[in-house]
Amino acid sequence: MRYDIKDVNSAKKGMVKIEWAKKDMPVLSGIASVFKKSKPFKNIAVGACLHVTAETANLMIALKEGGAKVGLCASNPLSTQNDVAVFAKKGENKKEYFAHLRKVLDMRPNITMDDGADLVSELHAFRKSQAKKILGGTEETTTGVSRLKSMAKEGTLLFPVVAVNDSMTKHFFDNRYGTGQSTLDGIIRATNKLIAGSVFIIAGYGWCGKGLAMRARGMGANVVVTEIDPVKAIEALMDGFRVMPMAEAGKIADFICTVTGNIKVVGLETFKNIKDGCVISNSGHFDVEIDLPALRKITKSRKVLRDFVESYELKSGKTVFILAGGRLVNLGSAEGHPASVMDMSFANQILAVKFILENKGRLSNSVHLLPEILDKKIAALKLCNLGIKIDTLSERQKKYISGWRNGTK
Ligand code: NAD
Ligand code: ADE
Repeated sequence: MRYDIKDVNSAKKGMVKIEWAKKDMPVLSGIASVFKKSKPFKNIAVGACLHVTAETANLMIALKEGGAKVGLCASNPLSTQNDVAVFAKKGENKKEYFAHLRKVLDMRPNITMDDGADLVSELHAFRKSQAKKILGGTEETTTGVSRLKSMAKEGTLLFPVVAVNDSMTKHFFDNRYGTGQSTLDGIIRATNKLIAGSVFIIAGYGWCGKGLAMRARGMGANVVVTEIDPVKAIEALMDGFRVMPMAEAGKIADFICTVTGNIKVVGLETFKNIKDGCVISNSGHFDVEIDLPALRKITKSRKVLRDFVESYELKSGKTVFILAGGRLVNLGSAEGHPASVMDMSFANQILAVKFILENKGRLSNSVHLLPEILDKKIAALKLCNLGIKIDTLSERQKKYISGWRNGTK
């Protein structure tokens, strides 16, 4: 099986979508055109488990142009855009999801490329012997990095992984501005509800939460933040948002959206007193943030009302709406982040693959940062493509800021 997709006839439409995304991915394209000549990935197989979108297709093409053999499956059962898929179908069940992961592992990758660490975790659980052939892996998202760090801490991680998420040109932009916009896009496409004047609860004031709060406020919502970290909570407060516990927030919520990477963030206590008609969604990596098993226990009936909108009529007589089955709403009911943001994330990915190859045998089996110089290079390339110029340090300034002798005069 060379591919397992929904409909091969949609490939033509997919190519148009891929070309459209490419127009906003100048940094990745620039790197790809250099690698097309130098072929740094010759004889390398990259096994990727990412959200299968038009932006990801451009990353795969860039890797192929650089000489790599690539295999791609989805990193979430609902995030696939069918017209650009390889081993992925939107709405695939658990059996298909893992069968697709195994298809990618069957190609015996030398590099893994993950979004959420499912591929690495599948390999460590069932294909340990394959780890010997693996030079390293890359990881796209916060939750994946956290899982990999936990493996490294346990001493069970069998190869080095570069935390692409932790590059500044990734999480400052993708997590913040990408998730900020695409999460609202997902909620709006699914419901067509007005955000202005609504009470909009955001669980988690990390990189994604900050972006979402900023954009929801921009659309006129009355934003409330819930947090468990006192520093993040006070930051949200000083950024001008109300802060309260989820159980309290649920009573006044028109919308709740979770972006924590944590489990059961909206749970039974919240459902019991929830505002009638509340729209609940999640943009964190896994579908565990809304406690759907607990919700089902207090539900009388369920009905699909629109694509990606399911109503839960509760025994209490209230109704709540769950979007995209509690899976990440921006990729479930919309198209994920805009290409111009993924441009920087995927420039990090492709440079991370090169970094692993250049440092073969030198990296420990732990989680590594991409060197800052590459991070800055991506930012500089993006600015250059946007036609923005910035100042450079003079020799005098360099000397001044690196010294200690110049104090009060
Ligand atoms: P982060 O670590 O910067 O922020 C998470 C925040 O959630 C932290 O401030 C933490 O204190 C808070 N938190 C944890 N448990 C909580 C709870 N029970 N209640 C309230 N707050 C809680 O992480 P991030 O980069 O913002 O990523 C968040 C999630 O979004 C992760 O799962 C990540 O993988 C995912 N993500 C999704 C997308 C997307 O496209 N949808 C993009 C990037 C990241
Ligand atoms: N994660 C968030 N948005 C994405 C996109 N457009 N493509 C791939 N991964 C993503």
